[in-house]
Amino acid sequence: MKPGIIGAAIFCVASVAFAAGVVKPTGNKAQFPKADKELAKQTKPPSNNWLLDANDDTERFRRLQVAMGGTDIPMWELTHRYEELYTAIQKNNWEMGVYHWDKLRDRMNTAAMKRPARTQNIEGMFLESGIWQSMRDALVSKSPERMRDEFQTVREVCMACHVAENVGFLNDSSTFERTKSFAKQDKDDD
Ligand code: HEC
Repeated sequence: MKPGIIGAAIFCVASVAFAAGVVKPTGNKAQFPKADKELAKQTKPPSNNWLLDANDDTERFRRLQVAMGGTDIPMWELTHRYEELYTAIQKNNWEMGVYHWDKLRDRMNTAAMKRPARTQNIEGMFLESGIWQSMRDALVSKSPERMRDEFQTVREVCMACHVAENVGFLNDSSTFERTKSFAKQDKDDD
């Protein structure tokens, strides 16, 4: 590409990016939410620099800890991977399955780090009970039947842990309905 054309292309991309902004500022006054009293102790006025403008590092870490949540956010993340594992099995893509399964384990451990009172069930029921390993072995075996069987066991264990952690009402979450069975195996299914 000639420099002139490159310049025109850059200009074009830049103007598209500029034009794509659709959120116009309201002009409302910036203020901290009343629910978190610690925030009001900040010397600087509230701004979008919610970490940098905090009074000290202890407060910065506190804010990060609040923003990163407890078990709920890791559960969101691992539910996405659980569903992608389901898709991988449906499509007989065992590598994609292993990819998500390994990352799901990492998220389980993050959940345990954040909420150590849940570690006992995370390890005892899921990570060290053989459930996690059996699913992985089934994926590596590339056997569609094994993968499908193991997935259903995983689904049961996810739900059993919710009961054990006194959140059994979450077993009505749409993900468990979506993943309760597999479509009939089709050799051309890709
Ligand atoms: C420690 C046992 C345990 C295991 C194993 C477990 N969960 Fe959870 N899950 C929880 C707890 C506890 C909560 C509620 C978190 C909270 O109170 O913030 C939860 C919440 C959830 C939620 C709701 C998240 C939200 O706030 O929107 C979903 C969905 C979910 N889990 C899916 C799964 C799936 C899928 C699996 C299996 C791959 C699984 N869970 C395995 C304990 C577990």
